[in-house]
Amino acid sequence: MNQSTINQSTMNQYTSITDYYDLLMTQGYYDYQAMADAVYSLMKDDRRKVIELGVGTGLLAEKLLLLAPESEFTGVDITSSMLEIARKRLGEWGKLVEADVIEMNLGETFDIAVSSGGVWVINQRDNRTDLGTHDSDIERDIKGLTNVAKHLRQGGLLLLGVQGDQKNYQQDLPSGIVYSQEVEKIAQKDAIEYIEKSYFFKKDDEILAQQKLKLKFIKPWKKEEILEQAGFKFLGIHDSQKFHIYEKR
Ligand SMILES: C[S@@+](CC[C@H](N)C(=O)[O-])C[C@H]1O[C@@H](n2cnc3c(N)ncnc32)[C@H](O)[C@@H]1O
Repeated sequence: MNQSTINQSTMNQYTSITDYYDLLMTQGYYDYQAMADAVYSLMKDDRRKVIELGVGTGLLAEKLLLLAPESEFTGVDITSSMLEIARKRLGEWGKLVEADVIEMNLGETFDIAVSSGGVWVINQRDNRTDLGTHDSDIERDIKGLTNVAKHLRQGGLLLLGVQGDQKNYQQDLPSGIVYSQEVEKIAQKDAIEYIEKSYFFKKDDEILAQQKLKLKFIKPWKKEEILEQAGFKFLGIHDSQKFHIYEKR
């Protein structure tokens, strides 16, 4: 399914690094099993319908499939090449939708919405937990989170995955491929810090794939303000420390 409202011009797309994404992610970038266990622990009898915001190549979904094959899963992503890999990974299971989460209109509600490394994240920096977002415009965050609330039933949960601070580093991957990321702060305005993150996959110093994303971090007080404005109440941090849990009021 391809929703017609995708605004390609303002979006960060993962197209150029899709082929290398799984290689990096499966080398411990995220602990998908621990994340899936955390989501599963919140899926009781009355919470079986899950939507993943920015499902990517389906790495978290794959773990959920093993834990809860009977659940109803929908993954949304704006990058078709990522969704193609997700579809192969998940077989027939789940529904995958190519859409911008900010604008999607799925015509149904869910019990749990998960964003793990996806459209929004909780960015843990020392003792501060900012809202990390893939979009450069805060108005789109408010619109998007309001839209997510619209897709949750009352009492439904929004799970925002916790990430460490974004910094420069390099990592060896299989087959002699080297991953590196460079993070540069480009502006600070009121409660928002804007960064540019460049990803490189190289072999023998030749660049195989690269991508530059514009990300931003919203300070805690502003984060709570916009989540509340969108219709969410903070419930707490999951015991695993993997997710901050919000409830749709
Ligand atoms: C870092 S990847 C994370 C993928 C997956 N959740 C994981 O943990 O591996 C971020 C994904 O979010 C998607 N994305 C970013 N902004 C989006 C938006 N507004 N709507 C839908 N997908 C979006 C990107 O296309 C990308 O696949």
